[in-house]
Amino acid sequence: MAKLEGKSVLVIGGSSGIGYATAVGALAEGAKVTIASRSEEKLHAARAGLGRKVEARPLDVTSDAGVEAFFKDVPAFDHIVVSGAAFKFGTVREQNIEDAYAAMNVKFWGAYRVARNATVAPGGSFVFVSGFLSRRPKPNMVLVGAINAALETLTQGLALEMAPGRFNVVSPGIIDTPTRAAMPEEARKTMLENVARSLPVKRVGLAEDCADQILLMLRNTFMTGSVVYIDGGGLLV
Ligand SMILES: NC(=O)c1ccc[n+]([C@@H]2O[C@H](COP(=O)([O-])OP(=O)(O)OC[C@H]3O[C@@H](n4cnc5c(N)ncnc54)[C@H](OP(=O)(O)O)[C@@H]3O)[C@@H](O)[C@H]2O)c1
Repeated sequence: MAKLEGKSVLVIGGSSGIGYATAVGALAEGAKVTIASRSEEKLHAARAGLGRKVEARPLDVTSDAGVEAFFKDVPAFDHIVVSGAAFKFGTVREQNIEDAYAAMNVKFWGAYRVARNATVAPGGSFVFVSGFLSRRPKPNMVLVGAINAALETLTQGLALEMAPGRFNVVSPGIIDTPTRAAMPEEARKTMLENVARSLPVKRVGLAEDCADQILLMLRNTFMTGSVVYIDGGGLLV
């Protein structure tokens, strides 16, 4: 399968976690990589790790005007990965309704806005990142499961509506990324150890586990409308 040599790859959420690992992998395959996210500071730090050949552009996917302006008058990327999201969890009864709307706004509507405004070059593709809660709803995380399910269905619809552009989605299980940086360290470690014990593979995921699948989706021109769960067997237990 052809590598990504010379292809332009935009990674939204490329400053951290799964997006950052995807940027690393795409660079290693010879792609021209652009990373985007809200914080200039995080982008700057990521670029220090990735190297100066990487372009970094600020973008907040919750902004209609911001997403439109980002893609206006720039050449089409070959591939666009949307891994950027940040939100709060909470029960349906207790979660502040504004936080609930904000979660949907960043993760579902963010991907929708990108699909609406961005065009990929012929042979190009989009990859979105959802999450296993779409198939395994959990108390306190019900909304995020619903958002992930909506994102997976959106992806499959776009694979038809916007063909021949390809649309795929990676649905991670528990992946050890900076997303849990705000948790107390001891609680974070214990949680990850418990999850690892419960999984058939006996470990939690790494950002690279998801990035490998994302890169394959970019390369594989016969792949569209696919939802791939990278969860260490979590859906089986
Ligand atoms: N880690 C897991 O266990 C896990 C499990 C299932 C699903 N997922 C999903 O995987 C995706 C990536 O998660 P991760 O673990 O890699 O998280 P992460 O390490 O926290 O990275 C999230 C990235 O998204 C960017 N971002 C956040 N809000 C944004 C916005 N409004 N516009 C543009 N960029 C934004 C962040 O940068 P800025 O702060 O600079 O914007 C950062 O680069 C998310 O959709 C997450 O829900 C993760």
